[in-house]
Amino acid sequence: MDDELIERAREVQKRAYAPYSHFPVGAALRTDDGTIVVGVNVENASYPLGCCAERVAVYSAVAQGHQHFVRIAIVGPGPEVITPCGGCRQVLREFGDLEIVMAEASGVKEPRIMRLEDLLPLSFGKGDMDGV
Ligand code: THU
Repeated sequence: MDDELIERAREVQKRAYAPYSHFPVGAALRTDDGTIVVGVNVENASYPLGCCAERVAVYSAVAQGHQHFVRIAIVGPGPEVITPCGGCRQVLREFGDLEIVMAEASGVKEPRIMRLEDLLPLSFGKGDMDGV
C-alpha cells in the first residue's frame, strides 16, 4: 500500500471541479522515479467535455516529462471505493501495466488494489498494430 499516494489523492480531491455531477474525484499518479502527479475531474457546462481525474493526472504527468508509472491512487466521494471508468483504463494502458489503488474519501472502507491488466483484460494497445 502507498499511504502517501492515497493521502495526496484525498487532498487534491477537494479541488475537483464537479458542479454538475457533485461527484468529486482525486487521483495521484506515482512515476518510476518516485514523483507524484495529481489530477481532479474537471467538468464543463457542455457535459461531454468534462475530464476524469485519472486522465488529468496522466496528461499532466506526460507534460511534465513522465511516461512510466508504477501506481495510481483514486479517491471518490464514497460510500464505496471508486473504480476507474473504462475510458481511463484505456488511457492508463497506453503507458503499460500499473497498480490501481481504489479508495473513498472518508477512509472508512479499506482501499482495494488491482493491476490494470486485471481491470482491462485482452486490451488493445500500440503493439497490436505492429506489422500492419
Ligand atoms: N469520474 C472520474 O473522475 N473518474 C472516474 O474513474 C469515474 C468518474 C468523474 C467524471 C465525472 O466528472 C464524475 O466523476 C461523475 O461521473
